[in-house]
Amino acid sequence: MFKNKIDGIGDIMAVKNFHFTPEFYDLQVCWPERLKKEKNFLTGIIKKRNIKSILDVGCGTAHHAQLFSSYVENITAIDPSSKMIEYARKNIIKSSNVTLKIGGFENLNSLVSGQYDLVVCLGNILPILGSRKKVKLALKSTRKKLLKNGMAIFQFLNFTPSIIKKEKFYKPKIINKDGKIYIITKHFEYGKLKTRVDFLTTVISDSGNLEDFYVNTYFVCTLRDKIFLKMASNCGFKKIELVGTGGREVFNRKKHVSLYALLYR
Ligand SMILES: C[S@@+](CC[C@H](N)C(=O)[O-])C[C@H]1O[C@@H](n2cnc3c(N)ncnc32)[C@H](O)[C@@H]1O
Repeated sequence: MFKNKIDGIGDIMAVKNFHFTPEFYDLQVCWPERLKKEKNFLTGIIKKRNIKSILDVGCGTAHHAQLFSSYVENITAIDPSSKMIEYARKNIIKSSNVTLKIGGFENLNSLVSGQYDLVVCLGNILPILGSRKKVKLALKSTRKKLLKNGMAIFQFLNFTPSIIKKEKFYKPKIINKDGKIYIITKHFEYGKLKTRVDFLTTVISDSGNLEDFYVNTYFVCTLRDKIFLKMASNCGFKKIELVGTGGREVFNRKKHVSLYALLYR
């Protein structure tokens, strides 16, 4: 239990947070489906650009690093959550050319030596950093980690207000674990600078009764595509392309729920 604080309102209520372990993260992602959608686009870039080295920032449970490992010579995958890294090491990474490290954008320079052909940052991490200032710093430190002809790929949500409003509830995810059913619902509330994200978790016991519910709320930086383009070019990236959900067509802010930004050093 802890006190929930909302900017300008102060303590409003006591809520219980659900602790999303790496195992739960993996259970709610449905990796075979996600990788099937992303694989052709991402490995297509790796092959086309003859990528030999990849840095994956915010790798989470490191399924992408494992996927990419058969296409390149070496991968460094980092995440500030030691639990994510431990889980990835134990359960996901099978290839010897993947190096896992604990850390994030903030310690990129001291943690990772050398430069890479490709830096990837997948799964809405830039907005999770929380502010435009932090996004800018992340873009700058990413650029420093790229070789001369290197490229970075950032995946994040389309923050166009009409899309956030239309997609404000994600389809509930239902997880069966240890005889219990967990129903996870995600809700977004658009804000000009920060967008609120609520994770609602309902637990049903093995006898079918509602056992508990949790509300995890956090704020992400509202990273609209036009602002992002300005920030990326101010950070020195010479060419930027935006591609829509799944990587199949040019990004359309009135249609796609997420985008890939391809940044060329
Ligand atoms: C939504 S998960 C995405 C994980 C993975 N890349 C994927 O696509 O499934 C967000 C990840 O960002 C990581 N993260 C949070 N703050 C970060 C930071 N400052 N630098 C790098 N990663 C961060 C979290 O630990 C978490 O594993």
